[in-house]
Amino acid sequence: MPRLRHLRPLLASSALAALAALAALAAGASPLLGCKRSSASAGHAGTKEDPFVVGMSQCNLGEPWRVQMNEDLKAAAAKHPEIRLVLKDAQNRSDTQRAQVEELVNEGIDLLIISPKEAAPLTKPVAEAFKKGIPVIVLDRAVEGDQFTTFIGADNKKIGREAGKWIAATLGDKGGNVVELEGLMTSTPGQDRHAGFLEGIDLKAHPSIKIVFTADMQWLEPNARKEMSSALATNPQIDLVYAHNDPGAHGAFLAAKESGREKSMKFVGIDALPHEGVQYVKDGVLQATFAYPTGGAEAIDSALKLLRKDTVPKQVVLGTKSYTSESAAKGGEAIP
Ligand code: FRU
Repeated sequence: MPRLRHLRPLLASSALAALAALAALAAGASPLLGCKRSSASAGHAGTKEDPFVVGMSQCNLGEPWRVQMNEDLKAAAAKHPEIRLVLKDAQNRSDTQRAQVEELVNEGIDLLIISPKEAAPLTKPVAEAFKKGIPVIVLDRAVEGDQFTTFIGADNKKIGREAGKWIAATLGDKGGNVVELEGLMTSTPGQDRHAGFLEGIDLKAHPSIKIVFTADMQWLEPNARKEMSSALATNPQIDLVYAHNDPGAHGAFLAAKESGREKSMKFVGIDALPHEGVQYVKDGVLQATFAYPTGGAEAIDSALKLLRKDTVPKQVVLGTKSYTSESAAKGGEAIP
């Protein structure tokens, strides 16, 4: 059962309020997001005139999937005049993200949504916000421990496992040489997509499959392209590339194309944005991708519940789908 700690302490007297305002000033807090009160506990009314302030800390906006997440959050929030969304972009730096979370808390938000870059460095600021009584929704990538209100995201281990199973089946009895390009391994989806993949591909049951090259491309297409160039240089035979996201798979494809080898191997990614991964599959650039929903709409839904003092589960698991050369045009295939 989730430990819901979203009841903000109320300042009992104006003397206390003045003290809190002084403390906020001393801590270098910036003006309170349009709110007249002065403390980390915002206590907005949740009306059109005085909407709840929802702070969103996004780890970066350099990748299409994160741009989509923010779009999904904004579209869902726009339907609710009783909330106001304040978005921060940490530009892919954990120290920046940590500072931005602290800033949002000091500015007086009613609820925090965070999609953290890495688990360890963001655990403490998230726990501190939570301990102050601010409801915290952790979205997509996890933090350590349980000092947050709810986690929303798809099951990355399952997605990795499904990719592994698909790859084993596609390579068949003949097997082949596989390259794995990992997402940032200090982030939980990278760890889970790797662990799930190893379960799904089951190398013991498929001795003709070999993982010949593994590298951490940190979710970034240019890194994936560079790592793939090294893989190509040292491996005369590569049959398939499994990348932990679609930008990674596309980067690998570009590297293979550069050396004229793209037709001799298959490329598998994760994310399946309609205008990115799914399009790559339709274009024959990738042979498969697995959906990784952004959870933007679900996060706003949970935020509204929490702000209205309703309970939400400690974890909300989002579903996935596969898109292959056969199924992409038909809208993919649900994975139960
Ligand atoms: C974007 C991204 C996605 C990936 C997700 C994992 O930053 O790399 O491509 O699915 O993060 O958290």
